[in-house]
Amino acid sequence: MASYLVTGGAGFIGSHLSTELVRRGHRVRVVDSLITGKRRNLDHLPQVEFVQGDLADAAVATAVVQGVDYVLHQAAIPSVPRSVQDPITSNRANIDASLNILVAARDAGVKRLVYAGSSSAYGDTPTLPKREDMPTNPLSPYALQKLVAEQYCQLFTRLYGLETVTIRYFNVFGPRQDPGSPYSGVISLFATALLEGRQPVIYGDGEQTRDFTYVANVVDGVLRACEAPTASGEVINVATGGRISLNELLRTMNRIVNSSITATYADGRAGDVRDSQADISKARAVLGYEPLVQLEEGLRHTLEWCRSDATAAAAR
Ligand code: UD1
Repeated sequence: MASYLVTGGAGFIGSHLSTELVRRGHRVRVVDSLITGKRRNLDHLPQVEFVQGDLADAAVATAVVQGVDYVLHQAAIPSVPRSVQDPITSNRANIDASLNILVAARDAGVKRLVYAGSSSAYGDTPTLPKREDMPTNPLSPYALQKLVAEQYCQLFTRLYGLETVTIRYFNVFGPRQDPGSPYSGVISLFATALLEGRQPVIYGDGEQTRDFTYVANVVDGVLRACEAPTASGEVINVATGGRISLNELLRTMNRIVNSSITATYADGRAGDVRDSQADISKARAVLGYEPLVQLEEGLRHTLEWCRSDATAAAAR
């Protein structure tokens, strides 16, 4: 049994990591500001020690790392457009808080910190798929902030010997992703629109592509990164390895729920990347990673969950 701190553990990805860690018999502490996370995402995990706090406060970071073997640093304010609107708030959550947790982890002698990086760091690359040795080209404050924190991780490994691994996530989706804001992930927004019989909005022409990754794949990749002997100091893509346009995504989701709802089209978003697809050969080599759940199966699980969650919400 090991002891894990999941920052942002009441959020979408963090709550899935916590669930799997508890299932494997580990001790889990979660710290979450509940700015975007939700306490009820952990209702099914009474074993988890929950601390409400903001890691941008260094005293919070120092307190929560005590007695911890591994830190899974998921806490962030996500969303490209949100960061375009308000770069200062997201900078504080995505950079200041990350530096605080790195310092605290270093001082507490944590074995390894695994950081939630982002595919957005690549920006628009001249070729696909995107490999970790390609130059980065952030197109939004969010992308830049995620890149800065990943470089801080690498620096802490070089300078202080703290083991860190950055996993660059590619458009993660799945149950518990919150559809409640215009900044939510596109699959959660499409899913609720289809299930409520509304038209979803597509920004731009819908021909932009993404390597949508079901959350179980990310959980597997991150937990492998805690143990993999040669992963320290590395940046590693974790994704499905394919790509699909938003127009095709909507057709696929319509097919799954047996509907034929079309989108309304709006202007493209500032800071949006055109195409995103991961090369996952480094994850295969360093982590022994292989995607467990392909896109369509993941979409089915997600749509099923959205349906049952809507029923549960109606009953609350
Ligand atoms: C980006 C990152 C991703 C990161 C996420 C955090 C890239 C390639 N990906 O996701 O790794 O985890 O930020 O928030 O940079 N869209 C619509 N209609 C909607 C909502 C979105 O058409 O209602 C479009 C967006 O304009 C975009 C695509 O769908 O082209 C995906 O958007 P979203 O789900 O917000 O994620 P990214 O910004 O791609």
